[in-house]
Amino acid sequence: MRKFAYCKVVLATSLVWVMLDMFILLYFSECNKCDEKKERGLPGRDEVVQKPHDGPGEMGKPVVIPKENQEKMKEMFKINQFNLMASEMIALNRSLPDVRLEGCKNKLYPDELPRTSVVIVFHNEAWTTLLRTVHSVIDRSPRHLLEEVVLVDDASERDFLKRPLEQYVRRLEVPVRVVRMEQRSGLIRARLKGASVSTGQVITFLDAHCECTVGWLEPLLARIKLDRKTVVCPIIDVISDDTFEYMAGSDMTYGGFNWKLNFRWYPVPQREMDRRKGDRTLPVRTPTMAGGLFSIDRDYFQEIGTYDAGMDIWGGENLEISFRIWQCGGTLEIVTCSHVGHVFRKATPYTFPGGTGQIINKNNRRLAEVWMDEFKNFFYIISPGVTKVDYGDISSRTTLRQKLQCKPFSWYLENVYPDSQIPRHYYSLGEVSISLLGPLCF
Ligand SMILES: *[C@@H]1O[C@H](CO)[C@@H](O)[C@H](O)[C@H]1NC(C)=O
Repeated sequence: MRKFAYCKVVLATSLVWVMLDMFILLYFSECNKCDEKKERGLPGRDEVVQKPHDGPGEMGKPVVIPKENQEKMKEMFKINQFNLMASEMIALNRSLPDVRLEGCKNKLYPDELPRTSVVIVFHNEAWTTLLRTVHSVIDRSPRHLLEEVVLVDDASERDFLKRPLEQYVRRLEVPVRVVRMEQRSGLIRARLKGASVSTGQVITFLDAHCECTVGWLEPLLARIKLDRKTVVCPIIDVISDDTFEYMAGSDMTYGGFNWKLNFRWYPVPQREMDRRKGDRTLPVRTPTMAGGLFSIDRDYFQEIGTYDAGMDIWGGENLEISFRIWQCGGTLEIVTCSHVGHVFRKATPYTFPGGTGQIINKNNRRLAEVWMDEFKNFFYIISPGVTKVDYGDISSRTTLRQKLQCKPFSWYLENVYPDSQIPRHYYSLGEVSISLLGPLCF
């Protein structure tokens, strides 16, 4: 009888701990959002290699709209959810600061690097942001390393993105191809289309509102030359959606996720600093990628199964490819000597058939079911509604996983992402309750 009471106490205290953990987990997984902005320092803003220019936004400076135009500015903001008026004032080939770490500026790379195609998907993008992306790619990539630029139009409705765009890019000194999706297909399928028509040995995916900085490409390609199974991301700098100011991103953050399967930035852990012997110019091994910008060897992209074509539109695909790369024998890195700016928006201007929530839930379920083994239950506990969402047929992806003999998710958590605290708690909780309850109660 006393033994039974003792068990009840053990059970009750275990339960309290489980609930406490869940609370901490939910609290911290959300609060990571707040740190995102703080983490982005502004190193090297005063180091200027190019001659300063005078026009609006030159050297990445913020554009200030005069008072009398504020109303118009607010109206225009709604079109793309960024300051379109400011973007239109800035030259398509504006100058940017060199935000790299000092140690990156003199690094030498082999002349013989694989050539890349740059694939950019757009949907109703603004003329100026799209073409500033293209110009920055062309202006800041060594010509012999840039095979072509492929623009994939995901069924835009704006007329200037039709013939006028084709006529404009024909004049550029690098081949720029415009391919069109017949109907709205979403990021994943449009990227697959872009990849299939491109010809470079490396495929570099960029978003449609980016700006590449000096020296961005060589360090990415050099990593792939060294090991074709390395997938590389630049540091993503922030282009303000209000002023188009260019702000350097931090080399001290890397990609993780919370257990709602949201991508999040986290501080690079000490173990990763130690592995690089404190040299911040060396690439960071990152558990996940943000998804918008990365380079990958074309054949390797095929080998590991490109994207999950059963995923719709957008969302979850970045974690899916991250898990897949790591679990199936590849490496995912943030190359800290490569900087590409990206306009981060507070709201999306796009609408999706069926609504974003359902799509992301479906994609996340596919991701969980194929790659996360028993750990998928963690996601389901935290997002209970998700289990009602139909995720379609995943058999081709589970077959892929078997064929590639990919490692279990537990291996990923232990070796690639040990600082994801939850599963460790989960493990130890599991062990504690088994060892305590096992012999005593049963
Ligand atoms: C942008 O292009 C214009 C016209 O070709 C040129 O005069 C200007 O110097 C360029 N700006 C930069 C920063 O290269």
